[in-house]
Amino acid sequence: MTGFRKLALGGVAMCIGLGMSVAAHADMVIGFSQIGSESGWRTSETASIKAEAERRGIDLKFSDAQQKQENQIKAVRSFIAQGVDGILLAPVVETGWDQVLQEAKDAGIPVVLVDRGVAASEDLYLTKVASDFVVEGALAAAWLAAETNGVCDVVELQGTVGSSAANDRKAGFESVVGNFPAINIIRSQSGDFTRSGGKEVMESFLKAEDGGKNICAVYAHNDDMALGAVQAIKEAGLKPGADILIVSIDAVPDIFKAMADGDTNATIELNPHLGGPSFDAIKTAKDGGTVDKWIKANGPLFLPDTAAEEYAKRSQ
Ligand code: AHR
Repeated sequence: MTGFRKLALGGVAMCIGLGMSVAAHADMVIGFSQIGSESGWRTSETASIKAEAERRGIDLKFSDAQQKQENQIKAVRSFIAQGVDGILLAPVVETGWDQVLQEAKDAGIPVVLVDRGVAASEDLYLTKVASDFVVEGALAAAWLAAETNGVCDVVELQGTVGSSAANDRKAGFESVVGNFPAINIIRSQSGDFTRSGGKEVMESFLKAEDGGKNICAVYAHNDDMALGAVQAIKEAGLKPGADILIVSIDAVPDIFKAMADGDTNATIELNPHLGGPSFDAIKTAKDGGTVDKWIKANGPLFLPDTAAEEYAKRSQ
């Protein structure tokens, strides 16, 4: 595993120095259409972006869409009507954005996609500040293949249907397990990125798979669903992290506690501090500069050996 960690840290974790520069942004008014608060990661991301705006003197207009795309479209239109300097959009799903993005473009308002992507022309937005979800899925699969010597029946807890996070994490995982004929994804269903959704779907997987006896591992598209699965596995009388391995994505404090307790086995970090590079991009565009179309923010894979230490650092 040590060699694997080195590979993960060295090869895949291409951190791009998030929050490196702090430009002055006083007087800027920015709208932020957030998805909701479905997970611990999402709550941290919201808090981090709000804190970064405050630190920079930005007037941040925040709108919580409660998981509904129609609310996000309304919020973006309202930001356009208010004549904001820029918009951060965390799109709940990938499709259906062309019209409203065109409206923002016509109004001369730069839109930064934060965390998730859209299936629309790149000309319609300024940049995307996000992790490469395909890489995260591939990293989870590579860990699982190494841990199980390429022999495992896996159940997959998918994120929100239609989201780039779920689509790409699934694709990345499948791209790697496709090279291992004895790794099979035996069940796959959405738990909507929530703890309760993960628990409920895992309960149904356990029932369908002889109380869990046929399941070697859980691949959860986020930590909250993994934590829900932990509860379901315990209630089924099995030991999560041993009878059934668990790999997930986000690296929230609670997953480090679970790993330290032996309940889960690996997590891949998703950096929630996306405000700095997003605000910098808007400022650069306003000043006439150019901005890359994708500002990547991938993080490393963590294993139980550092979990207690990480939990202590992250839970303060
Ligand atoms: O889009 C990123 C995902 O959305 C995070 O992994 C998940 O926790 C969140 O809700």
